[in-house]
Amino acid sequence: MKNIKIAILGLGTVGGGTYQILKENRELIAARCGCTFEVAKVLERDHARLEALGLDPAIAVTDPQLIFDDPEIRIVVEALGGIDFPAGLMLAAMRAGKSVVTPNKAAVAANFDRLRACAAENGVQFRFEASVGGGIPALTAIQEALSANAFTEVMGIVNGTTNYILTKMADEGLAYEEVLKDAQAKGFAEADPTADVEGIDVANKLSILMALCFGTYVPPTEIPREGITKVTMADLEAAKEQGCRIKLIASAKKDTDGSLTYSVKPQLIPASHPLAGVNNEFNAIYVTGNAVGELMFYGKGAGALPTGSAVCGDIIAIAKTL
Ligand code: HSE
Repeated sequence: MKNIKIAILGLGTVGGGTYQILKENRELIAARCGCTFEVAKVLERDHARLEALGLDPAIAVTDPQLIFDDPEIRIVVEALGGIDFPAGLMLAAMRAGKSVVTPNKAAVAANFDRLRACAAENGVQFRFEASVGGGIPALTAIQEALSANAFTEVMGIVNGTTNYILTKMADEGLAYEEVLKDAQAKGFAEADPTADVEGIDVANKLSILMALCFGTYVPPTEIPREGITKVTMADLEAAKEQGCRIKLIASAKKDTDGSLTYSVKPQLIPASHPLAGVNNEFNAIYVTGNAVGELMFYGKGAGALPTGSAVCGDIIAIAKTL
């Protein structure tokens, strides 16, 4: 059976979750895709992270060039976080002939065209399913199963941390700071949770969704954005009295003249609306296509294993073409 060597850049929450899935589901993955995966190198300074996962610390490198120069490595998973540095590594990996998989929405959103063009120029694949909606396979569906549709709208709840905070504040009366700490401990939040609570993470994801649904790239910095830091317990209570929930909503709509209207902001959602029932770290992505009509994807939008599930799906999709 073919053994495909991969490298993981960063063994944090998602890098670790990805390895855990490849290891625990090794046999069923082999049976389904006819090959095995071997993590041959990891870019990671913290050897304790390798030991905790049962990986040999000898495969850890601190110079990414050792990965790019290794002809046996076919797929590189970038799970470091950040923007410019990981984007540079992804470009270098693709120029070295490796396909790249990443959950890094900030790097993808800031370099969308560049990364995709680099993959095309170098005859490799660039996949980023885990960058939006964690474990929800919405991006692949938009690009494949739904690709016959002209999309008119995409909206949703695409940040697990803020949805977790709003849910716990509204339903359990817990304080913002306390719930944020809990979300960090569960591995939902970004290294700097400002990106979550100020809506920056959601803007990155909306930028990616718009590029795929409408073929129009809008840099995340140009998306009007408001986070949840100004939402108070009193606001949540008042919403409840009106039969509503407050949710951090990403939305983009194509108007009849072809122009796009988009924003990231907390919105009142009537309790009867399906998005009102999307709670805790769950995400939901609604798309409207001219053939399929309205469609909602729902699932866990953050966390090691849900996000690792999407990364593994991309790895397997690439392996099937090698
Ligand atoms: N911090 C992100 C979230 C992680 O809470 O949704 C997944 O992108």
